[in-house]
Amino acid sequence: MKSISSVRLTGLFLILSLLSITARAGFPNPDKPTVLITGANASHGLAFAEEYAALDWNVIATCRSPEKADRLNALASTHANVVVETLDIIDDEEIAALAKKYNGVPIDVLLNNAAINAFRFGISRFGKMDYDWFEEILEVNIIGPLKVSEAFQANVEMSEQKKIIAMTSTGGSIGTLEVPINIGYRTSKAGLNMAMKNYAIYLQRKGVIVGIIGPGTVDTEDYMNAADPTSVPRNYQMMMKAGRLVPRTAIDDMIALIDSMTMEDSGVFYQWDGEVLPW
Ligand SMILES: NC(=O)c1ccc[n+]([C@@H]2O[C@H](COP(=O)([O-])OP(=O)(O)OC[C@H]3O[C@@H](n4cnc5c(N)ncnc54)[C@H](OP(=O)(O)O)[C@@H]3O)[C@@H](O)[C@H]2O)c1
Repeated sequence: MKSISSVRLTGLFLILSLLSITARAGFPNPDKPTVLITGANASHGLAFAEEYAALDWNVIATCRSPEKADRLNALASTHANVVVETLDIIDDEEIAALAKKYNGVPIDVLLNNAAINAFRFGISRFGKMDYDWFEEILEVNIIGPLKVSEAFQANVEMSEQKKIIAMTSTGGSIGTLEVPINIGYRTSKAGLNMAMKNYAIYLQRKGVIVGIIGPGTVDTEDYMNAADPTSVPRNYQMMMKAGRLVPRTAIDDMIALIDSMTMEDSGVFYQWDGEVLPW
C-alpha cells in the first residue's frame, strides 16, 4: 500500500505538470479554459476571439496572415490571455507545426470558424460554374476543418470540456433548400455537416462533443446600431431590410450554446439560437 506522503507527492507532481503545460503555452489564466479559433482575424472569428477574451478564457487566435491582422493584434496587445498564431487550415506543414507547438496543452473548445464564405465570390449558378473555385471551397470548408480537428484532437481529449465545434451554415441544409444558387458554398457546408456528423459518432467513445452550428450572418460590426445608418455598407443595409442580419449578441448566444452542450448535442445541426435545423 502506498504511503500518504507518496500519494501527496504524486498529486503534487500532477498539478505541477498541468501548471507547467499551461505556462509553456504562455497563458496567464492557468485555471481558465482554452479555445483555439481558426480565421480569428475577421468578422465572426474576430468577434469570437473578442468575446472569449472578455470572458478571461485563454485564446489561441489563429489566422493566415498575422502581420495583416491589425484588429486581432490590437486585441492581443490589450489582453495577455490572447495569443495570435499563424494557421492556414489547408497547409499541412503549418497545421503540423502548430500542433507540435501546443503538444500537451489542453484545448477545451476547438472552434473551426475559418472558411471561404459565399459572399466573397458572388453567386455560383448552373451554367456559370467556376469549377476551380468549387474545388477550392470544398478543400477549405470541408477538408480544412477536419485536418485541423484531427491535428488537435489529442489536445481536446485531454481538456475538461472536450468540444470540437464546426461553424457551418443554414445554406448547408438540404431539407430547406428551395432556390438553386450558391451551389459551391452550400455543397461545402452540407459536406462539412456530413463529415462532422461522422466525426461526432467516432468521437463519442472518447467523450468528445462535436458541435455543428449555423451562425447566420452576425452583425459583427454592430451596424444595426450605427449612429449614421447611411454609413452602413449597402449589402448590410439590404440584409437588414430583409431581416437577414443577426444581432451581434448572437456571438454570446453561440458561446452559451457551446457552453451548454453535452454528449446529447453532439452531431446535432444547430442554428445560432439553439433551433435544431434539418439536414
Ligand atoms: N457571414 C455569413 O453570412 C455566414 C453565414 C453562415 C455561416 N457562416 C460561416 O461562419 C464562419 C465565419 O464566417 P465569416 O462571415 O466570418 O467569414 P469571412 O468574413 O469571409 O471570414 C472568413 C475567415 O476565414 C479565413 N480563411 C479563409 N480561408 C482560410 C484558410 N485556408 N485558412 C485559414 N483561414 C482561412 C479568412 O481569412 P483571410 O482574412 O486570411 O481570408 C477569414 O478570417 C464561416 O465558417 C462561414 O461559412 C457565415
